[in-house]
Amino acid sequence: RLLGKGAGRLAGKRVLITSGPTHEPIDPVRYIANRSSGKQGTAIAAALLAEGAEVTLITGPTAEPAPPGVKLARVETAREMLAAVEAALPVDAAIFAAAVADWRAAEASVRKLKKDGSGAIPDLKLSENPDILRTICALPPGKRPALVVGFAAETNDVVENATAKRARKGCDWIVANDVSGDVMGGARNRVTLIDGKGVEDWPEAAKDEVARRLANRIADHLAAETAKC
Ligand code: CTP
Ligand code: CA
Repeated sequence: RLLGKGAGRLAGKRVLITSGPTHEPIDPVRYIANRSSGKQGTAIAAALLAEGAEVTLITGPTAEPAPPGVKLARVETAREMLAAVEAALPVDAAIFAAAVADWRAAEASVRKLKKDGSGAIPDLKLSENPDILRTICALPPGKRPALVVGFAAETNDVVENATAKRARKGCDWIVANDVSGDVMGGARNRVTLIDGKGVEDWPEAAKDEVARRLANRIADHLAAETAKC
């Protein structure tokens, strides 16, 4: 469904979405990353565009083409992603679908690390990356987007872990997915939406379909909030 400019339930709403993995350099040829393909985040950006929103897509390195019409920021590291998110504010809603690397090399080497022939293993020290979702949730009212949606990638005790994560991060909704199968990189997804009211299991579907359903939910929510004002 294609809508003209200005049409759609999210017309006039600004939304940002993070997507993909981050790459954290170890040296000029190596990095720390994860299996995120960026498919689900890109599909959500496209679905929000189709609802008429003004969409900023902030993505780590992926092979996914950006949906035409998004404002695109391509980043590599978690710290770059945080800066791009902050630069995209203010927004009405922010969706954090990226699989941000939790750790980076404490100091990336400017030279390629070499084997010295003795079998010695490099002593790679890690630092924790900033938590982008948590940082944005903690912004003061007015600066904090009215709706913040996190994702929770879990391999076990999915609902329990995601419920705790929602509270820890301070986001409004969390979309939990079980990544123990081939979800990362795959075309389908089965998610559970947890908001302040309860837990909703959504049926397994194509990532595009999950995206449309989420965009629809966001449109419902923002319309209800506007009606309250
Ligand atoms: N996230 C983020 N910045 C980070 C880590 C995570 O913005 N440095 C966001 C993700 O985009 C996602 C949510 O936080 O929306 C949860 O990510 P997840 O990796 O599931 O949770 P963590 O808090 O990192 O916990 P853990 O990986 O230990 O389960
Ligand atoms: Ca993590």
